[in-house]
Amino acid sequence: MRMKSIVAAAAAVLLGALVCAAPLRAEGETIKLGAVLPLTGGIAAFGMESKDGINLAVDEINAKGGVLGKKLEVLFEDDKGDPADTTNAVSKLINTDKVLAILGSVASSCTLAGAPVANSAKIPMITHNSTNDKVTGVGEYVFRTCFIDSFQGATSAYVAAKIIKAKTAALVTDVNSDYSKGLGEAFTAKFKELGGTITGEVSYQQNDVNFSSQLTKLKGTPADVIFIPGYYTEVALILKQAKQLKIGSVFLGADGWDDPKLLELAADAADGTYIVTHYSADQKTPEVEKLVKAYQDKYKRGPAVTDALAYDMVYVVADAMKRAGKADSQALRDALAATKDLKGATGSVTMNKDRNADKNAIVLKVEGGKMKFVESVKP
Ligand code: PHE
Repeated sequence: MRMKSIVAAAAAVLLGALVCAAPLRAEGETIKLGAVLPLTGGIAAFGMESKDGINLAVDEINAKGGVLGKKLEVLFEDDKGDPADTTNAVSKLINTDKVLAILGSVASSCTLAGAPVANSAKIPMITHNSTNDKVTGVGEYVFRTCFIDSFQGATSAYVAAKIIKAKTAALVTDVNSDYSKGLGEAFTAKFKELGGTITGEVSYQQNDVNFSSQLTKLKGTPADVIFIPGYYTEVALILKQAKQLKIGSVFLGADGWDDPKLLELAADAADGTYIVTHYSADQKTPEVEKLVKAYQDKYKRGPAVTDALAYDMVYVVADAMKRAGKADSQALRDALAATKDLKGATGSVTMNKDRNADKNAIVLKVEGGKMKFVESVKP
């Protein structure tokens, strides 16, 4: 009897210790964030660069002791640039991994597919570069640390009308991409407002490789400018095929073009094109110089736009966590909404009432195989 009760008491102590240890382990020694990115597929360069930018910022923050006394830990998921995969990855990170917040994704169509899951679970989701206007409209837990496509599209129209001095423009739009469609609409509205005429519009789908029928159609009604709101993989092929067809228009694109891969794939067919984007290493602010040096040291290369945007985003999240004072998703949401004047390599982030950041747009021109800074445009 006595022996039995000793065993029972010991078992109770042991059980108690286990029960106590469980919540401790659930809280963990790290603060877990999820990141959903296109690590493979047609826009994999954007995903891999985002991962590098996130890892660099996290390493820097952890080297200085982390946030709220804990190290940051990021769990990466590959959505391949496919919206259905984004939805699944966001669910997994929230339900299985119990992350505090989610970073990503890249393509607006992907972020639009994943954001409703995060929003209804009341887990903040922050994207560094999904620019479609509707993204943050999903709900009050969805944020972005960059500008939106109505501004990016209007800036592209300004470049067409005022810098290139075009009177006519044609569009080549990706029909399956929210990014492409929204940007095309914003461009069209502003270009007309500036007195221009749209002379044609043709469309394609991601993974298309032959654009000759669309380009031949546009060659029949020549426009001063051809605006292509697309991603670098298809854009590079379009530029090469346009050069073969000797189309004389000036080609113009936006952030989806802005990657070293575009120059590699399109080679000299990219020369003379204009790009509207978020960042240029030619703008030597202290933040840009610090990032360029850190990239050289860690990755032996310079940061592309997506690297820089992803790096800055982590600092926005870390700053909000500190102000929240605890690793709590609701407190983090409220602190993110109050983000003010947080300087980064891609400009300063102040969260506006729609949970977007009103940053400058950067105009680049490709010359001699390099993207060169032309001008910085304010919203
Ligand atoms: N803005 C693009 C989108 O919303 C994504 C992107 C941003 C890609 C910046 C490259 C660089 O789909």
